[in-house]
Amino acid sequence: MWDYTDKVLELFYDPKNQGAIEETGEAGIKVATGEVGSIACGDALRLHLKVEVASDKILDARFQTFGCTSAIASSSALTEMVKGLTLDEALKVTNKEIAAYLGGLPEAKMHCSVMGQEALEAAIFNYRGIPLAAHDDDDEGTLICTCFSITDTKIRKAVAQNNLLSAEQVTNYVKAGGGCGSCLAKIDDIIREVKQETAKQNLNTNGAKTTTEIPSSMFNEGQQRPLTNVQKIALIQKVLDEEVRPVLIADGGDVELYDIVGDKVQVILKGACGSCSSSTATLKIAIESRLRDRISKDIIVEAV
Ligand code: FES
Repeated sequence: MWDYTDKVLELFYDPKNQGAIEETGEAGIKVATGEVGSIACGDALRLHLKVEVASDKILDARFQTFGCTSAIASSSALTEMVKGLTLDEALKVTNKEIAAYLGGLPEAKMHCSVMGQEALEAAIFNYRGIPLAAHDDDDEGTLICTCFSITDTKIRKAVAQNNLLSAEQVTNYVKAGGGCGSCLAKIDDIIREVKQETAKQNLNTNGAKTTTEIPSSMFNEGQQRPLTNVQKIALIQKVLDEEVRPVLIADGGDVELYDIVGDKVQVILKGACGSCSSSTATLKIAIESRLRDRISKDIIVEAV
């Protein structure tokens, strides 16, 4: 049983904007249509946008979908989100924002939010008369997953935009790897490459520093009140996800937060990190010093 938010269930049981929009020949109005997915893969979405030509504004949006609870809820959310936006504004809507509108989606269902964002792009580029292959270089990359016809370009985009760290997550977002599994090693390679590129860019932009922002809500006005346990756990997880894991993954390893007891942070080292003779140094340098730097000088990291 999936753990859906109330908003997902609300839009599933009572979807808003379901149906098509027909061209009526009304002056100054055009209908844009975008379609993604395939029945063979289990999800398909056709999005209709009613556009005011003079202002480029989306006056109405409707959808038709063949899919699960999250596909219906994501499509419905998308139509609510884009109404009133110009086409350029709508192009900036990301799959993350669709999921956020729903109060989150189970990770295994994130591909539904990706499908919504792709249908939106398809509709707008159709409207502008730009052939899909010309704007959507997803189709121009190297085919990685033959089961779902997914290219490396599409996988790279999903990894970069959603900060994905494992092949399993890639499957959840774009389905690649979810069939015979023979492409999983290639997906791991792509993740590593994207993380290395990102780490390089961060280095170029910020020197040795990284950019995780610690939310101001973690502190009181004087920034002296100790973190609550919940805040501490959330912050440690955030620093691990954003600053530590990408570096380890780029090197063939990974780390998982196991538990936090007082100032002791217990982690599980994985992949190359787990079997590496320099794992102690990895702990001390890559993880402990980073957590001390970012959260508290008293933190001690140990592997379990
Ligand atoms: S080739 Fe990707 S799952 Fe089969």
